[in-house]
Amino acid sequence: MQNILITGGAGFIGSNFVRYLLKAEPEAHLFNLDALTYAGSLENLKELPDPQRHTFIKGDICDRVLVEDLIRQNKIDTVVHFAAETHVDRSIFGPAQFIQTNIVGTFTLLEAVRKLWLDENIIPGASFSEKLRFHHVSTDEVFGSLGSDDPPFSETTSYSPNSPYAASKAASDHLVRAYGHTYGLPFTITNCSNNYGPYMFPEKLIPLMIFNALEGRPLPVYGDGQQIRDWLYVEDHCDAIWTVLQKGKPGQTYAIGGGNQPPNLVVIRTLCEILDECQPQSPFIPHESLIQFVADRPGHDRRYAMDITKIKGELGWEPRQTLASGLLNTVNWYLSHPEWAEAIRRQQDYQGWLAKNYEQRGGAK
Ligand code: NAD
Ligand code: DAU
Repeated sequence: MQNILITGGAGFIGSNFVRYLLKAEPEAHLFNLDALTYAGSLENLKELPDPQRHTFIKGDICDRVLVEDLIRQNKIDTVVHFAAETHVDRSIFGPAQFIQTNIVGTFTLLEAVRKLWLDENIIPGASFSEKLRFHHVSTDEVFGSLGSDDPPFSETTSYSPNSPYAASKAASDHLVRAYGHTYGLPFTITNCSNNYGPYMFPEKLIPLMIFNALEGRPLPVYGDGQQIRDWLYVEDHCDAIWTVLQKGKPGQTYAIGGGNQPPNLVVIRTLCEILDECQPQSPFIPHESLIQFVADRPGHDRRYAMDITKIKGELGWEPRQTLASGLLNTVNWYLSHPEWAEAIRRQQDYQGWLAKNYEQRGGAK
């Protein structure tokens, strides 16, 4: 791995991965292709370690000419594909961009590497699978929803996506797998549970609750708040992806999760308690009084949980952070980066989205 193309590297997980990889792989040059949608920002890429080994390119993964030129000119031998539309609520309001970026964008990248790696052979070598890798970063949401007694999702669970977001990610997973099966593309796929941590855009549950609580705004709980997610600290996810890139077998998929599965309401209450302690001067203590139950998300998946036996047994990866330590780190990070938070609060789109989503759920003003 010499020249690594990271797509979506100005977003939440992608920017954490850029930071992680600059430290973990001192030989590689990273080419970061990101369209800088509302979810991506150069603010996420400030003060990188060893920044001369990172090149940022603003552009769309659906732009075939751009993608091909980038891969050819920089002799890209590894693609780590994060770029996507990622928010389930937004996919319910407007699925079109999810189809375009998540399906057409992934297809565009696959066609580019098929042409350049397999047909034009721009990275010659005896063994493709040792020299080249297309790693696709995917989600547990492709598997649908678990009942309370069901075993966790694993690599052998059949696909059953429920939201437009999940369906678009499922389609992209299938495309990647098909390029491996049909053309011999050396790929790996990881299906990961809910991440949280620094640089997460405050439309998702954990950072939204922190942002709103700090401003004394309502903390909207969808439905009864008893839905379950399998929370993983973002640095652990980066570590898992790096482990798969180094030791994973081409053609394989790996399930990743944090083993932390409290109901949403417990996560929200824990955040409120942390904020009560960290912000003793806040006029909004107890922050829990800001909790407001609102209309549920249509088609809301009830429960996710991941079985990480394969990645743990075959590759030796397991998460390091507990939910307690991870949430504390996360709150402290948001509190110590007010300028980052302020840049997002100033985005007109952000305030507009919050108001629209909140109103749709019948939230009181
Ligand atoms: P994010 O929304 O924070 O970031 C997405 C990034 O992709 C942004 O920087 C955005 O500008 C960029 N992007 C969007 N459309 C693009 C396009 N057409 N061309 C180039 N760049 C584009 O997302 P995230 O939460 O960091 O998720 C990253 C990946 O991980 C996604 O593929 C997502 O499906 C997957 N994933 C996320 C989670 C999670 O909990 N956040 C869990 C499992 C898997
Ligand atoms: O499981 C992995 C997925 O996790 C990723 O693939 C997605 O990109 C990522 O957005 C995330 O999806 P979720 O829908 O699970 O995340 P979100 O943070 O939007 O919601 C988490 C839970 O909290 C979910 O049950 C809905 C609920 N929720 C969310 C928000 C934003 C609320 O109760 N109130 C809220 O305001």
